[in-house]
Amino acid sequence: MSFKSWRREPTMITDKIREFIGVETARNLEPGGKSARTIAVCSQKGGVGKTTTAVNLGAAFSHFHEKKVLIVDLDPQGHVEKSLGSIIPDGLDYTPVSASLTSKKGNLLNSIIRTKLDFLDITPGDKALNEAEGVLAAKIGREMILSQALKTTKTHYDYIIVDCPPNLGNLTVNALCAADFVVVPCEMSVLAFEGVTDLLNTLETVNERLNKSLKVLGVLFTRVDGRNITMNQLVEENLKNYFNGNIFKTRISVNTDLNKAQLEGHSIFHFAPSSTGAANYSALAEEIAKKVRKFDA
Ligand SMILES: Nc1ncnc2c1ncn2[C@@H]1O[C@H](COP(=O)(O)OP(=O)(O)OP(=O)(O)O)[C@@H](O)[C@H]1O
Ligand SMILES: [Mg+2]
Repeated sequence: MSFKSWRREPTMITDKIREFIGVETARNLEPGGKSARTIAVCSQKGGVGKTTTAVNLGAAFSHFHEKKVLIVDLDPQGHVEKSLGSIIPDGLDYTPVSASLTSKKGNLLNSIIRTKLDFLDITPGDKALNEAEGVLAAKIGREMILSQALKTTKTHYDYIIVDCPPNLGNLTVNALCAADFVVVPCEMSVLAFEGVTDLLNTLETVNERLNKSLKVLGVLFTRVDGRNITMNQLVEENLKNYFNGNIFKTRISVNTDLNKAQLEGHSIFHFAPSSTGAANYSALAEEIAKKVRKFDA
């Protein structure tokens, strides 16, 4: 066990006890003056770049656009915290996201921690989200719990980015119900077509029944290897049909700096500001900001 994870242990024990007795960490829960746009980064496929996108998109909005950003980690794997580990102070007090979602009138403001960057906050990794998935299933209005828990939080941020787990379960449906927009990362391989209809069905059902304002911002091609021209064309043409041409112009090239940055616990803009990965994610933030402004106009 690394020194860093050892240092965090006492906080987690306190949180477990708090969760057990059902008391949330006390915070100032007064509303702020903002009205966040919420973006879910969603695909049921594993390893397609959801977390890399959530983290670096959030970092780009806060770093270049000076927007106040919260990244919500709904994946029990807790990769957002790991990806930004070097900018997260030790010993912070918070209520685990699972406790905020499963307690009565839970408020996600209690689950947020500040990173060392001025405009970037996250919810820390929480393995108990695995069990929360089942607990949510038994609740009335289970799909809207995150949306409810984010009500006050939205008044404190410009953007909330939700990193979804690699499945289409309750937590992902909650993210889609809380979101204004969804970004679908996708790899350039034949595997990209696997499960696309399931994802589209879920998006359509959520849109029709639960969240009429949900919009697909676009499919984002990740780990693009420009040398695979035929495969890239095949994937693009087919996904264009599935998603009504809703494909981001920006593509994320395969770039090992993105992988190294994640391992170092930094955003790509800190780790390798001149890398292709940094250029791609800053272009993506520009493209998304433009699309969001268009929808808002
Ligand atoms: N453009 C890229 N170039 C090179 N490596 C990348 C790129 N994007 C992501 N990776 C690496 O691929 C792996 C999977 O990425 P990531 O964790 O973002 O996927 P994910 O969809 O969140 O996975 P999961 O479904 O497990 O949550 C990570 O090791 C990441 O560093
Ligand atoms: Mg992930």
